[in-house]
Amino acid sequence: MDIDGKALAGRIKRDLAKRVKEGIARSGREPQLAVILVGDDPSSVSYVAGKAKACVEVGIRNTTIRLPESITQDELIAEIERLNADPAVDGILVQLPLPRHIRKRQTLAHLDHRKDVDGFHPLNVAAMWQKLPCVEACTPRGIITMLLDNGIRIEGRHAVVVGRSSLVGYPVSKMLLDRNATVTVAHSHTPDLGAITRQADILVVAIGQPHLIKGDMVKEGCVVVDVGISRDPETGKYVGDVDYAEVAPKASYITPVPGGVGPMTIASLMQNTVDCYLDHIDPRTDDDRDIYTQGF
Ligand code: GUN
Repeated sequence: MDIDGKALAGRIKRDLAKRVKEGIARSGREPQLAVILVGDDPSSVSYVAGKAKACVEVGIRNTTIRLPESITQDELIAEIERLNADPAVDGILVQLPLPRHIRKRQTLAHLDHRKDVDGFHPLNVAAMWQKLPCVEACTPRGIITMLLDNGIRIEGRHAVVVGRSSLVGYPVSKMLLDRNATVTVAHSHTPDLGAITRQADILVVAIGQPHLIKGDMVKEGCVVVDVGISRDPETGKYVGDVDYAEVAPKASYITPVPGGVGPMTIASLMQNTVDCYLDHIDPRTDDDRDIYTQGF
């Protein structure tokens, strides 16, 4: 059965729109997400447009700041610091990838972690690994939300994550572990990938190789989450890392591409932005969020 990420994302955004209205009534100001786009990579332009559209649906003011490819690291950091200091900005997202001359990690570390809606700041990553309150990375949050919404049990199941990127594979493996799955992380150096993936009750594939996972690499009844999204050069259509035609008949649940994980990443970004906004207008005093911010 397909997991309809688009429909779930729609429900989440409608719920968020209500929470935004209540927030505005309480605080007198709307949430704002600032998106920094460096250069004009067509995929990034299209992703940023998708994020702006979602903001309209939820009632978040979106400011997209387009900067030239030639921008220096210092200029980019100055822009981030300007947004950090702007009290009307609740969330800041730096669209990746950045040009090669910009040091990504150093740049992201300049974000105010309370406005880091991507969950990429080292404090948010560290907090996630310590089970402290944090902003979770969007795609992993979206994956967990999809599993929970479909009543898919995580506890006690063998989850196999293919890919160990800092954006998806690495954080989602930790989030599955926190929900008591037994987690195996496979990657480009794993010999006999099929022998590992065939053990999966839940298989998350985020490696960026179109149609890597074939029908004979999954077991009957497996839950398959396909994070990959590549454009087929012949047909121009989007395809995932999973060979859907072969795998879907064996899977109990599978996320299609497009319409699966993609819309959920954006819905999670909206959740993170609204969470940051609500924290911003109404700072929490009853959690240990301050513990990990002290001393930094
Ligand atoms: N580029 C591809 N995916 C992402 C993402 O989740 N966040 C950002 N900022 N850039 C991306």
